[in-house]
Amino acid sequence: MGMRDYFILTAISVVWAAVYASEECDFFSGRWEIDEEYPLYNSSACPFIEREFGCQKNGRPDSLYTKYAWKPLACDLQRLNAEQMLERFRGKSIMFVGDSLSRNQWQSLTCILHSSLPNANYTIARQGDVSTFTFTDYGVKVMLDRNVYLVDVVREPIGRVLKLQSIEGGKLWKGIDLLIFNTWHWWNRRGPTQPWDYIQTGNEIKKDMDRMLAFEEALTTWGAWVDSNIDPTKTLVFFQGISPSHYNGSLWNQPRAKTCVGQQEPVEGSRYPGGLPLAVDVLKRALKKIRKPVKLLDITLLSLLRKDGHPSIYGLGAMDCSHWCLAGVPDTWNQILYNLIL
Ligand SMILES: *[C@@H]1O[C@H](CO)[C@@H](O)[C@H](O)[C@H]1NC(C)=O
Ligand SMILES: *[C@@H]1O[C@H](CO)[C@@H](O)[C@H](O)[C@H]1NC(C)=O
Ligand SMILES: *[C@@H]1O[C@H](CO)[C@@H](O)[C@H](O)[C@H]1NC(C)=O
Repeated sequence: MGMRDYFILTAISVVWAAVYASEECDFFSGRWEIDEEYPLYNSSACPFIEREFGCQKNGRPDSLYTKYAWKPLACDLQRLNAEQMLERFRGKSIMFVGDSLSRNQWQSLTCILHSSLPNANYTIARQGDVSTFTFTDYGVKVMLDRNVYLVDVVREPIGRVLKLQSIEGGKLWKGIDLLIFNTWHWWNRRGPTQPWDYIQTGNEIKKDMDRMLAFEEALTTWGAWVDSNIDPTKTLVFFQGISPSHYNGSLWNQPRAKTCVGQQEPVEGSRYPGGLPLAVDVLKRALKKIRKPVKLLDITLLSLLRKDGHPSIYGLGAMDCSHWCLAGVPDTWNQILYNLIL
């Protein structure tokens, strides 16, 4: 056996061991525990953190919420090693595609990487809906494509049409090495902030329809896009699961709580009293229909337990129990992502 064969075989067995290990461990069942090594970074040391997520800077008085680490029941999460991650993606690109929850996770990843390697040069640029954070010394791009439905909203003579079977936006996702998609929060929007006037399915244009069905149809369109456009030897595809909100204390046994304000601790244990949102089932059903490998970053339960993790009034000002403070919960999403691609 030549040296080259030896290296190839070793590489294959290392890859297999990694795949096997990550298949074996369920990173998504676990509990939150205080860990003195947390947070993973000092949010003041992340100079580009957006105001929306910079809770401490906005005056949030408690900080215990930054000290919780996710402990899977059956295994340990490896700490995200920034150097290793950037080497793994040298010359490559990572793209989050979705709504502001994608921005939340994108910002978390750039903060984790930057704060571990504060001397590594970087640039931030924005072109249209795509923001690109580049670690220039590594040639690694960490990108965000803001696209709240994944399928298209098109301006037509009758008004803005949400087209459940059209996905021209996918042009921007070709050639990316790691894609992390998400859509959910905008599907229930109504009133003045709903960004469309009509919804189109097949040849039918309607004023509105069952939003859960529309969500599922869009996911099916996206799944078909994955099947016809992704080369799994080149691109890894993830779906960032349904990120939950906390506006109803009945769901965590505090019926008097109408929002997440004042919550300073996670729900104890590994179970959320209110159960999982219905959208999780719809998503899982849609993912099953995709033939190409797509991994679900199944962050719903672990995030549901974090009623303490939202900005509440320490974000942009209005009550926000949907996004997450940074440092905070999305750092764990990225840590799990890292463990799944290592
Ligand atoms: C975080 O960084 C700020 C600004 O550099 C510093 O004042 C603060 O002490 C740091 N906090 C911790 C916990 O290290
Ligand atoms: C950052 O860029 C400067 C100027 O191009 C270069 O001198 C420096 O070595 C770079 N830093 C690192 C950590 O590579
Ligand atoms: C909160 O959740 C409880 C339990 O599921 C439900 O009965 C109630 O209608 C919810 N309240 C609101 C305001 O959605």
